[in-house]
Amino acid sequence: MILQTARLTLRPLILNDADAYLAIRHHPEVARWVPKPLPGVIERFSASWEERRYAPWGVFRDGKLIGHGGLNYVPEFGETEVLWALHPDAWGKGYATEVARAALDYGFETLGLGLIFAITLPDNLASQAVMKRIGLTYRKRVEYRGFKDVVWFDKSRD
Ligand SMILES: CC(C)(COP(=O)(O)OP(=O)(O)OC[C@H]1O[C@@H](n2cnc3c(N)ncnc32)[C@H](O)[C@@H]1OP(=O)(O)O)[C@@H](O)C(=O)NCCC(=O)NCCS
Repeated sequence: MILQTARLTLRPLILNDADAYLAIRHHPEVARWVPKPLPGVIERFSASWEERRYAPWGVFRDGKLIGHGGLNYVPEFGETEVLWALHPDAWGKGYATEVARAALDYGFETLGLGLIFAITLPDNLASQAVMKRIGLTYRKRVEYRGFKDVVWFDKSRD
C-alpha cells in the first residue's frame, strides 16, 4: 500500500530499510519522545499490513527515509492511533502534518474507521501542534504503558 503526497512517498517498511529506520528511532531527539523499538518492529508492521491493511508507513523524501508515520492499532485502547516521528533534519517543513493528513484520509475513507486518536506526553508540544493542525481535539488524560499522564486527542469520521 504505497501513497504519494505532495512531497512525500509513504510505503510499508521492508527489512532492507532496517538500518536507516533504526538510526532514526535511536536518534536521541526522537528517542526522547518515542520509546526505542523492540526487535522485530518491521516484521510486526508487515504482519499488521497483512492483518489490518494498515501500519505506520516509512516516510520517504526524494527516495531517502526520513521517518515513519501513519496508523497503528493499540490493543490497550481497542482503537487506532495516528502517529509520526521524523529525523530532526526533517522537522519544521510540514512533513509530519502532510503524512498525518494522508493517514487520516486513508483511515476514514479507505478503511472506514470510526475514530482515530493520538497520544503524547504533555510537554511534547510539537506533536500536539500536529494533532491540532489535522483537526484532532483534546479530550482527556490517560495512563499508557507506565506513563501516568498522557494527553489524548481524537477525531471521529462524522
Ligand atoms: C512531532 C514531530 C514529527 C513534529 O514535526 P514538525 O516538523 O514540528 O511538524 P510539521 O511537520 O507539522 O511541521 C510544522 C512546522 O513546519 C513549518 N513549515 C515549513 N514549511 C512548511 C510547509 N511547506 N507546510 C507546512 N508547514 C511548514 C511550520 O511553520 C511549522 O513550524 P513551527 O513548528 O515553527 O510552527 C517532530 O517533532 C518529531 O519527529 N519529534 C520526535 C518524535 C515525536 O515526538 N513523535 C511524536 C510522538 S507522540
